[in-house]
Amino acid sequence: MEGNGPPLLKVENLSKKYLIKKTLFHKEYFTAVDKVSFEINYGEILGVVGESGSGKSTIGKLVLKLIQKDSGEILFKGKDIYRMSRKEEKIFRRESSVVFQDPRTSLNPRLTVYKIVEEPLIVHGVGRKDRKEKVVEAVKDAGLDETFLNRYPSELSGGQRQRVAIARAIVLDPDLIVADEPTSALDVSVQLQIIKLLEKLKKEKNISLMFISHDLNVVGNIADRIVVLYRGKIMEKGITRDVIKNPKHPYTRILFESLPPDHPSRRKDLKNIPEIEREDVAGGCPFYHRCPQAEDQCKKEPEMRKINGREVYCHFA
Ligand SMILES: Nc1ncnc2c1ncn2[C@@H]1O[C@H](COP(=O)(O)OP(=O)(O)OP(=O)(O)O)[C@@H](O)[C@H]1O
Ligand SMILES: [Mg+2]
Repeated sequence: MEGNGPPLLKVENLSKKYLIKKTLFHKEYFTAVDKVSFEINYGEILGVVGESGSGKSTIGKLVLKLIQKDSGEILFKGKDIYRMSRKEEKIFRRESSVVFQDPRTSLNPRLTVYKIVEEPLIVHGVGRKDRKEKVVEAVKDAGLDETFLNRYPSELSGGQRQRVAIARAIVLDPDLIVADEPTSALDVSVQLQIIKLLEKLKKEKNISLMFISHDLNVVGNIADRIVVLYRGKIMEKGITRDVIKNPKHPYTRILFESLPPDHPSRRKDLKNIPEIEREDVAGGCPFYHRCPQAEDQCKKEPEMRKINGREVYCHFA
């Protein structure tokens, strides 16, 4: 439901750990996502940023139920995706889709563009006649003309391939697309075209997007709201321009203070925040060992503080 109803997607205290080591007597887990909560509204782009390994893709896969959660809740249109009937789940699968980073590996090289885009329609039982119409429309909406339908992925440029992946993602007319680094494998000149296309789809088709990226410039341009992740936890969450203009978490501040919007190449590498020598603390602030402002208090877990629509995971926000 739109308007006063529940948001399109609501995620509450979502956690996921991976089994990384197993012996006869011992199992070792790595917590990739730790009590994460956020919402995506209808027709909204939520940017998810964070360094490599911060849990972005894991969250993307969890909300689409491509992998199983450990705990927490994921509500799609107000319904828990783990408590759906078979029919409800089918509708959920139809109304949500994904675009991956690298169209070279995400598209089947043996299929033509037509077959690639048609596949989800077959899976969802759409009749042959309707299929043709929908494939042609999706491919056009993705900015390609009909001459592409009989081509193979190997005959396309990177940008064209990503357009095919997008055509496939929109062919069932979804409400939510998880776009996981959809421009990272593309040349800079092509990146902007793909971003413009996704923005157009959001506006014209009212599709919501979870836009995952490690590139702050890209997210800063496209996202309505932003979630900043660090080691599986949300550090800060808010309206993109507010967060960029006035970041409140020390981590977000470090990320954005060095962000010259017109010089993406000078962007600070997310991994290069130096460690400060501090004792190990368990259960404290995850940013403790790199935070220039940390004090004794930070050895204890912070609360998520809410300030004017912003949420900040820091004792001093
Ligand atoms: N199947 C898996 N088994 C074990 N560990 C995993 C698995 N998938 C991911 N991880 C670990 O979980 C953490 C989060 O991974 P994830 O892929 O979600 O990060 P990411 O933010 O998407 O990173 P990147 O920017 O590199 O894509 C990483 O430390 C990763 O090594
Ligand atoms: Mg990833």
